[in-house]
Amino acid sequence: LSQENQQSLSAYEWLTKLYHHLLRYTKDGKEGYKYFKDRGIDDETIDAFQLGFAPNVKDFTAKFLEKKGFHQQILVKSGLLSLQQDNTVTDRFRGRVIFPIRNHLGKTVAFGGRTIHNQEPKYLNSSESELFQKGRTLYNFDLAKRHIRKTNEAVLFEGYMDVISAYQADVKNVVATLGTALTESQAKLLKRYVDTVIICYDADRAGIEATYKAANILQDAGCSVKIANLQNGNDPDSFIQEKGADAFRNEVIEASDTFITFYMRYVKKDFNLSIEGDRIQYIEKVLRKLATIDSSVERELYLKELSTEYNLTMETLLNEISKYRQEIG
Ligand code: GTP
Ligand code: MN
Ligand code: MN
Ligand code: MN
Ligand code: MN
Repeated sequence: LSQENQQSLSAYEWLTKLYHHLLRYTKDGKEGYKYFKDRGIDDETIDAFQLGFAPNVKDFTAKFLEKKGFHQQILVKSGLLSLQQDNTVTDRFRGRVIFPIRNHLGKTVAFGGRTIHNQEPKYLNSSESELFQKGRTLYNFDLAKRHIRKTNEAVLFEGYMDVISAYQADVKNVVATLGTALTESQAKLLKRYVDTVIICYDADRAGIEATYKAANILQDAGCSVKIANLQNGNDPDSFIQEKGADAFRNEVIEASDTFITFYMRYVKKDFNLSIEGDRIQYIEKVLRKLATIDSSVERELYLKELSTEYNLTMETLLNEISKYRQEIG
């Protein structure tokens, strides 16, 4: 590790502790503490994730770290201070609750900061650095790792709060991307630890599109993919806070769909199934996808579904799919 990166880690460590302390024990952090309480997060969880609060002061962080002997230049590079037009610096995180983003060793390498007064942007992250690349980081991977190993499954969320609520609900094999699309590198990281990834994104338009993309990336990385059963309009955190931990485990996670079931529903939107031509195209598209399943038992189960739903003989479907399987080779 370079001298600069060591300094940067050290700055993040100081600040993680300071922001957390302010939130937990001081008047200056009280509104941050209240914010998490109002969202149903308890003290034990606040401590486990080292959640914090950065006061709404322009140079609070800069002053604190300069007193500790850190050089401004390094703090700018680490994404903690922002360089202004006139070459002065200001704190990047002001008046926000703080989510420390830890690397796989549990060291804070970045912060996410959420506004508690409806300001824009809603979330602000540290800028990327040698120590922090969004596309290579999964939030909470360090804490989730042993639970992921134990269950041979990982649950993938969109957001910090989804991870934190699930963890508090005792679903601990949970990680999240940081507001960006899942990357190949993140998928490969997961594949090193699990066979199955359960995608549990927000049940809205954007979440469904992102689910489809992430599922394909995970499959390409060799993961078996399931899609959590979250009903319209919910996000995992809001579901847990409304319906509780048991409902989340039983009705959302345990009731996950296979990727194929999700796929059949997802691609339907591009076709008008009351028109014969569309129907044929739809079935062919699904068959092409089914052809990529290696297990013949699994393939046959889906073919039976299609056969019943569209009144086609199994013989026809098996003939068609064997053509596609030959194409794949
Ligand atoms: P809450 O409103 O706190 O429940 O947030 P959420 O996690 O449900 O937010 P949302 O579903 O909108 O976004 C999911 C994730 O994307 C967040 O956890 C952030 O990591 C990221 N994100 C959301 N909004 C922003 C933003 O304005 N800027 C950046 N950089 N990231 C964002
Ligand atoms: Mn958003
Ligand atoms: Mn969303
Ligand atoms: Mn959300
Ligand atoms: Mn949310």
